[in-house]
Amino acid sequence: MIKSICCIGAGYVGGPTMAVIALKNPHIKVTVVDVNQERINAWNAQNLDKLPVYEPGLAEIIAQMRNVNLFFSTQVNEAIQQAEMIFISVNTPTKTYGLGKGMAADLKYVELCARQIASVATTNKIVVEKSTLPVRTASTIKSILKQSQNNVQFEILSNPEFLAEGTAINDLLNPDRVLIGGDYHTPEGKNAIAALSEIYKNWVTTDKIITTNIWSSELSKLTANAFLAQRISSINAMSAICEATEANIDEVAFAIGKDSRIGDKFLKASVGFGGSCFQKDILNLVYIAQTFGLNEVADYWQQVISMNNYQKSRFARKIVQEMFNTVSGKKIVLLGWAFKKDTNDSRESAAIDIANYLIEEQAELHIYDPKVTAQQIFTDLEKSTTIPQEELATKIKIYNHPDTIFQQAHAIVIVTEWDQFKTFNYTNIKKQMQQPAFIFDGRNILNPSEITQIGFHYIGIGK
Ligand code: NAD
Ligand code: UDX
Repeated sequence: MIKSICCIGAGYVGGPTMAVIALKNPHIKVTVVDVNQERINAWNAQNLDKLPVYEPGLAEIIAQMRNVNLFFSTQVNEAIQQAEMIFISVNTPTKTYGLGKGMAADLKYVELCARQIASVATTNKIVVEKSTLPVRTASTIKSILKQSQNNVQFEILSNPEFLAEGTAINDLLNPDRVLIGGDYHTPEGKNAIAALSEIYKNWVTTDKIITTNIWSSELSKLTANAFLAQRISSINAMSAICEATEANIDEVAFAIGKDSRIGDKFLKASVGFGGSCFQKDILNLVYIAQTFGLNEVADYWQQVISMNNYQKSRFARKIVQEMFNTVSGKKIVLLGWAFKKDTNDSRESAAIDIANYLIEEQAELHIYDPKVTAQQIFTDLEKSTTIPQEELATKIKIYNHPDTIFQQAHAIVIVTEWDQFKTFNYTNIKKQMQQPAFIFDGRNILNPSEITQIGFHYIGIGK
C-alpha cells in the first residue's frame, strides 16, 4: 500500500487533485512540489484568500489537510526521493518555438521532470502522467527513466485528469470515471495499476475506475477535450444561423438536448470557449494527425478552433456595428475576465480577444471580475497586444468592486457568466449610463425581455 506521494506541479490540477487525494487518504503523506517559490508560498499562505487557485470548496480542504498529510514545498529532490508514487502534473503548453510551433505540445517541463526523477530516485517508483500528453509520451518518459544509474525500477501509468475548473472539487469528489492506463500484461504493470486504483477506491466506486492500455489512456484525454470543444463550436455555429433567421439558440439547444442521444450538457452558446485546455489540446491533436499524414483528420479538428475564433471575432465586431460603427472614445464596461465562472483563471479567456479588439477600435475599457486580479488582467492584455505598456494603462481601468463602474458608460459587455452579474439592479444601472444604453450578453445570462423593458438595447448570442 502506497504511503507517500509526490506531485510535481502545484497548479490548477496538482493543487486541487492532491488536496482531494490527501483528504480521502489520511494514511498517505502527499507532498506537492513546484519550482515556483511564489506559488508555493501562496499555497502555504495563512490567509486562504491568497491561495493561487480559486475553486469553490478548495480552501476548506486546504485548511483541513495542510500540514496534516498535505504539504506544499519547493524541495523537489527531497520529495521525489521520499515518494513511492510520483505524479507529473506540470504544464504542457502549445510550443511557441521551433518544430511544431503553434501546434505541438511543449513537453520540455515533462521531460525535465523525468530527467530529475531519473537522477534523484534511489528507490523504485511508480510514475503517473497526470498532465495531458500526446499519445505515446509514456515511451519518451520510459526511455529517459531507463537512463537512471541507481538501479531503480520505474513503472509508468497514465492517469489523465478530467476535472473542469470552477467545479474541480465536485468533479474530483464525484468523478464520472477515473482512467488508468498501464502495462496490464506484466505483473509489475498490474501491481502499479492496483496501487493507484487503491488510492481512488477510498472514495470512487470500482465500476468507475477504468483500466486501459497506456496509449488509449493518453489518447482518451485528447479525445474527450476535442469532443467537448466540438460541441461548443457546433452550437456556436448554429448561433450564427439563429441570428440570421430569428430562430433562438437557447430554444434550439433545449429542443435538441431532449434527444437522449445528444443530451443537454455542453450546449450553451457563448462568446467562444477559453481556458488552458481546449485550444491547446486540439492543436496538439491536429499536429499528431498531421504527423501521421492524416490530413483530413487534422483539417476536421482544426475547424473546431477556427469556428471558435470566428465566434469571438463575430461577437466583437457586432459590438462595434451595433454602436453605430464606432466605439472610439466610448466607455465600455467589460463584466468578467475569467474564462468561465467560479475560477480565477484567465488563460485563453475570450475576454482577452474581445478587449484587444475594442482597444484597437479606441474604446475606453472598464473591467471588473470578482476573482481575477487587476495585475493578472493587465498582464494578459500586455502579453497579447503590441500597444506599449504606458499607452495601454491609459485605455483601461480595472475595478475591485462594480459600484461605480457603470457611470456614464455607453455599453456593458458580459464576457463571463458569474452569477452576481445576473442579480445586478439593471434599472439603476441604466439610469447611470449614457443613452441609448447597450448590453451585449456574451453568455445569454440575462432575460432579454426584462432587460429590453428597462430600456436597454439588448444583444445576446444566437437570438
Ligand atoms: P499550471 O500551469 O497551473 O501548473 C503547472 C505547474 O507546474 C506550474 O506551477 C509550474 O511552475 C510547475 N512546473 C513546471 N515545470 C516544473 C518542474 N520541472 N518542476 C516543478 N514544477 C514545475 O498547469 P495546470 O492547469 O495545472 O495543468 C497541468 C497539466 O494538467 C497540463 O498538462 C494540463 O493540460 C492538464 N490539465 C489541466 C486541466 C485544467 O483544468 N487546468 C484539466 C485537466 C488536465
Ligand atoms: C475542460 C474539460 O471540460 C475538462 O474535462 C478538462 O479536464 C479540462 O478542460 P475547463 O476548460 O476547465 O475544462 O472548463 P469547461 O467547463 O470545459 O469550459 C471550457 C470553456 O468552454 C469555457 O470558456 C466555458 O465557458 C465554455 N463553454 C462550456 C461554453 O461556451 N459552452 C458550454 O456549453 C460549456
